[in-house]
Amino acid sequence: GSLKDSYKNNFYIGTAMSLPQIHGTDAKSDDIIKKQFSSIVAENCMKSMFLQPQEGQFFFDDSDKFVEFGEKNKMFIIGHTLIWHSQLPKWFFTDKDGKDVLAEVLKERMKNHISAVVTRYKGRVKGWDVVNEAIMEDGSYRKSKFYEILGEEFIPLAFQYAHDADPEAELYYNDYNEWHTGKIKTVSKIVQTLKSRGIRIDGVGMQAHVDLKSPSIEEYEKAILEYTSNDVKVNITELEVSVLPSPWGTSANIADRVEYDAKMNPYTKGLPEYVKTEWENRYLDFFKLFLKHQDKIRRVTLWGVTDNQSWKNDFPVKGRTDYPLPFDRNYQAKPIVKKLIQLT
Ligand code: XIL
Repeated sequence: GSLKDSYKNNFYIGTAMSLPQIHGTDAKSDDIIKKQFSSIVAENCMKSMFLQPQEGQFFFDDSDKFVEFGEKNKMFIIGHTLIWHSQLPKWFFTDKDGKDVLAEVLKERMKNHISAVVTRYKGRVKGWDVVNEAIMEDGSYRKSKFYEILGEEFIPLAFQYAHDADPEAELYYNDYNEWHTGKIKTVSKIVQTLKSRGIRIDGVGMQAHVDLKSPSIEEYEKAILEYTSNDVKVNITELEVSVLPSPWGTSANIADRVEYDAKMNPYTKGLPEYVKTEWENRYLDFFKLFLKHQDKIRRVTLWGVTDNQSWKNDFPVKGRTDYPLPFDRNYQAKPIVKKLIQLT
């Protein structure tokens, strides 16, 4: 059996693809992707700094290959991401004197970028993360240049531009730490505002970068229910379960670096059995929750295939050894894969 067959009546099951996977130079991963997944998203190559490194100069080679891979394998293809403060080219907000552009200029640049990208993949990319990570945990708007120059209106504008370019495409708002109550409140308000203005939005993307402790299944369920009470679906967009302790809140002046590293990176020699069990149970608990609410969930996407390729080895601290994904460093399915297959 495979994940995609087992979940075909529940929701799409997806993965993010890296460049070697897109280029076919990581054949072992590609075999896993074709066998196991019904949906794909590009981990990096559709971000604005790669698609439009200089104003008006687009680079579509990698994203074209990515979309071809998805079509060839009959996958539900997701575009990530149109408007995001990060991995964005430097020119986006500045004029030729290096000063911030005026609102009208920024709107034009957003429109040009979104129109070019969405139009190129019209009818082929089925859903877009239109805006990524615009809201903070406390519910305030991130003080990005988009927000500073255009205010809250940059979000409806982005959705409108995307819809104009491909009226059939599903459009999503995507964010992390999505279970925080302040964030739920503001994102829900954004969904309601878009809907009341007749602007298309199909779903909220819940990134789901979770660890062994946070969030609880109860608070995650509450978030799913709150988002979907606004008549949208949720997508689980970037799921992985980190086994490492979160370094957030740790002092920047670490007196004893060695001790700190050992504490933050305890599993360099492999995972103890009890951690493996805890980790499996986390995956099972989340998937049980997703199945319980399958009528509300369009897609569950993992952020990568095998452990060695996971961004979690470098984030938020560089050089960690993490084990967050269902496939191991030897491209073998961990026991969790079979257990997830058997859940449906
Ligand atoms: C990450 C990629 O996995 C890394 O390779 C890259 O260096 C940084 O971005 N939220 C998102 C994703 O929406 O695009 C991020 O992906 C992870 C956090």
